[in-house]
Amino acid sequence: MSIIPVPRVAVIVVAAGSGSRLAAGIPKAFVGLDDHTILRHALRGIFEAPPMQVIVVAPAGREGDALTDAEEAAADRRDLVSVVTGGPSRQASVAAGLAVLWGDVEYVLVHDAARALTPPDVFTRVIGALEAGAAGVVPVMPVVDTIRQMEGDTIVGVVDRSSLTAAQTPQGFQRGILESAYAAAEDEYTDDAAVVAAAGHTITTVAGDGVGFKITTRADLDRARGLVRPLRHTSAPLGEPAL
Ligand code: CTP
Ligand code: MG
Repeated sequence: MSIIPVPRVAVIVVAAGSGSRLAAGIPKAFVGLDDHTILRHALRGIFEAPPMQVIVVAPAGREGDALTDAEEAAADRRDLVSVVTGGPSRQASVAAGLAVLWGDVEYVLVHDAARALTPPDVFTRVIGALEAGAAGVVPVMPVVDTIRQMEGDTIVGVVDRSSLTAAQTPQGFQRGILESAYAAAEDEYTDDAAVVAAAGHTITTVAGDGVGFKITTRADLDRARGLVRPLRHTSAPLGEPAL
């Protein structure tokens, strides 16, 4: 018998992409950072956060590997884990996860497995905003680069940075709002907040985290590998150099 009560929160971990920009020859979620995969690292942060139903959306044919990673990361929370097969787009993969939510779940988080190093605090902040009544919540980071507007090859202006923000995951939603927004979505949107905003809901923000970047390119992979290396030999927190 599980000692964990049925959670009110679920997280859909989308890991079904091929990783075409990383071009590692295997699906991105199964690329190693150290002796653990990107997916396993992403799940480590999740299982350090408050208990949630954890739905891993895996590439077709990789469901068994995903379950192995998830059960190892879950330890005594194994009962909270399930694996489903993803679809051809990220949106289709999220929809596959939505289909297996438990009945008691009230809040749904959607997280990119490719954000392997997102700390548990970010999950806690998103859940807190949902408990305070937000329809949808996105963790954000300030935009540090100067963003320029182009026409063809020519720069025609500088965009005011103070009006911009970079969206991360986990993005969280009231369950019914996310389900109905997905049921109504006819286009492909850039992220889940865009699906929910298109259905007319207001999205609020919480602070993201610099180590919650998405591993997209080889340079991102190298950065993530550099960050996990000192972790294994010292107790330095994520992102801080080992002494
Ligand atoms: N994802 C998914 N199902 C898809 C496409 C993407 O579950 N059909 C997931 C990826 O596994 C990833 C997250 O969505 O964790 C963010 O997508 P992205 O970083 O674009 O990953 P890929 O689509 O795999 O990479 P690429 O676009 O370079 O092919
Ligand atoms: Mg993609």
